[in-house]
Amino acid sequence: MPNRETQVSDRVVVIGSVNIDHTVEVARFPHPGETLLASSLTSSVGGKGANQAAAAARSGASVLMVAAVGNDAEGAQALATLASAGVDTSGVHRVADARTGSAWITVAASDNTILVAPGANYQWSQGLPSLRQSDVVLCQLEIPVPLVESAAVAARGRFVLNAAPSVRLDDDLLRRCGVLIVNEHELAESAGLPDVDAADTQRVIAASRSLIARGTSAVVTTLGGRGAILCTTTTTLMAATPPTPEVVDSTGAGDAFCGVFAARLAAGDSLGTALRYAVTAGSLAVRHPTAQGGYESFARLPDLVDQTPSIIEEPRP
Ligand code: RIB
Repeated sequence: MPNRETQVSDRVVVIGSVNIDHTVEVARFPHPGETLLASSLTSSVGGKGANQAAAAARSGASVLMVAAVGNDAEGAQALATLASAGVDTSGVHRVADARTGSAWITVAASDNTILVAPGANYQWSQGLPSLRQSDVVLCQLEIPVPLVESAAVAARGRFVLNAAPSVRLDDDLLRRCGVLIVNEHELAESAGLPDVDAADTQRVIAASRSLIARGTSAVVTTLGGRGAILCTTTTTLMAATPPTPEVVDSTGAGDAFCGVFAARLAAGDSLGTALRYAVTAGSLAVRHPTAQGGYESFARLPDLVDQTPSIIEEPRP
């Protein structure tokens, strides 16, 4: 893979996926073999990387997106949407003969299912830019894992990994993570454990500590409507989601969390303050349809963050 030695002075660099999301809304999920009629169909820009970059930029960070899209109309649409969110897209490559990634999303009540056809996200032809001047490098796992590993090695600022979609993480990558962000299922998979119940706080803390023992400095577990738990070697902190009027679409809420968390770390906030901002962002994101639909409201985060309480938990079960 050729190496592009470009200097990056942006404070948050997001290296990850870009998709076009095709979302159908249904009353309930179909059973295998069953056909149902959807009440609506929308297409919008998504992808965990693009969502996180947009969320970070909408909350005020200077953001460079490093990604691969196809040389097609969908790739152009994604670039335009990211630019309108304030993201520097100069690190997004157009891959000839590849299709822009696509996601097929079913939203039923407050839950969703997502299938991704990665397209260009798995056909990168470019190397990574120099990451020497970035404050935070933020990755997810919708691009080839070796690229994420290279980014972790090259990052000079904090390396934040959102381990989604989940895989069993190897110790070398874990050791390079300043912060690992997971939901309860990804927590279990990353730790190599049977599923963890988000309501079982002590089990979440124990699984986080097992990952810290393997090398990561901090683990943040998002707990849906309950908030999120942060564990480090010395502290356990829980930030509780403020009352949320109605969950319209939870797609992209985890990405809002990750993007805003990275943005606040780049701004110099403590882990605890970044956690409260991120939980607040997640609670705003679920009030709007589509992944990035609620991100414009992130300009209001500094006024709303005080509604997100944090609770210090006992450090050990
Ligand atoms: O996290 C939500 C995202 O996952 C969607 O935007 C979809 O593209 C998939 O990548």
